[in-house]
Amino acid sequence: MQTSYWKLQKNSENKEAMEQAAALIKAGEVVSFPTETVYGLGADGLNPTAVAKIFAAKGRPNDNPLILHIAQKEAIEPLTTGLNANAQKLIEHFWPGPLTLIVNKSSIVPDAVSAGLETVAVRFPSNKFAQDFIRACGCPIAAPSANISGRPSPTNAQDVLEDMQGKIAGMLDGGSCGIGLESTVVDTTEPVPTILRPGGITYEMLTEVMGAVEIDPALQGDKNFKPKAPGMKYRHYAPKAPVYLFEGEACQKLPEVIAKALAAGKTVGVLCGRALERELAELVEKQQLQLACWGDSREQLAADLFYLLRDFDRTQPDVILAEGVDESGIGLAIMNRLRKAAGYQLITLQNGSLHLKNSATLPEFMIQ
Ligand code: TXA
Ligand code: MG
Repeated sequence: MQTSYWKLQKNSENKEAMEQAAALIKAGEVVSFPTETVYGLGADGLNPTAVAKIFAAKGRPNDNPLILHIAQKEAIEPLTTGLNANAQKLIEHFWPGPLTLIVNKSSIVPDAVSAGLETVAVRFPSNKFAQDFIRACGCPIAAPSANISGRPSPTNAQDVLEDMQGKIAGMLDGGSCGIGLESTVVDTTEPVPTILRPGGITYEMLTEVMGAVEIDPALQGDKNFKPKAPGMKYRHYAPKAPVYLFEGEACQKLPEVIAKALAAGKTVGVLCGRALERELAELVEKQQLQLACWGDSREQLAADLFYLLRDFDRTQPDVILAEGVDESGIGLAIMNRLRKAAGYQLITLQNGSLHLKNSATLPEFMIQ
């Protein structure tokens, strides 16, 4: 299949591109489009045949439901049997924006979208290109992130095309996504709103408006809990090389561990902040070290994380060592994605020595 491509211009209605892309959607095809979080893979959310093409392009398991994207608050009404007070308050405060709400679904939502659940996920993105596109289509747009299932979500058009060129009918290129991590998913059908996936709307922002907010216990990686968002149970974001995530005080040991891994002849990828980058400057010159530095802020890390993880697949080091961040604010979403990328190979410091969570054996180069 030929993938049509449109470069979108800021401060423009991009009328022609939007009309052509919308015509493909109306014909039951799949088109990728930018949002403020990550790129989406969109199709007519009320057309089960079109929705099936999304699952095929991504290689997505059928039991993983999709989010319906809308371009005005009221458009959620026909999709649900009713909104409770919590849902209404969340809409009022956080839409448009990176917040997806789980609500009870109405009969017009196809089973293909909700994966047979009684609920449906709905989101009103703040990205202007996304809004113009959804409006031009005139229907709710079902859209998962535009990656092949299991890979990091794409945050620019090139990364979308790497996975989707030739598999989808169209690609709207709106440049880089600002937030870089997928939306926060909140289940509003429980008495207390529950975060099923952390994202750009943080726990702190939610509690300030809602009071009590719960976090799905399965997000901590405890195998005894089954995640309530089906997508959270799958292996995700993982580069091909093994990733070890250093948490808390263990990060202080990173320079030592890196030097040892290099001495053992390994090619090493490091994902870290500016301070550690400075410390490692000398080692980088030795060439066996691939440093991916996110800069000075955690917002910048969120924006760059998926791009940096994809980059490691292009260079393929033997091992990737990642520096963790604290979990306040956007840190909760960052650490959730990093833990998944690491397949829960988490390194902590206990009584002065490194410890691998969920396993007794540390890799050789980490033993001090
Ligand atoms: O930022 C985003 O949310 C991006 C952009 C494109 O909008 N979309 C996105 O979609 O990340 P996706 O399909 O990659 O992730 C949707 C998540 C999955 O973990 C899925 O299992 C969960 O939302 N989900 C969807 N419907 C659900 C439902 N009815 N109940 C529980 N979880 C649901
Ligand atoms: Mg996804």
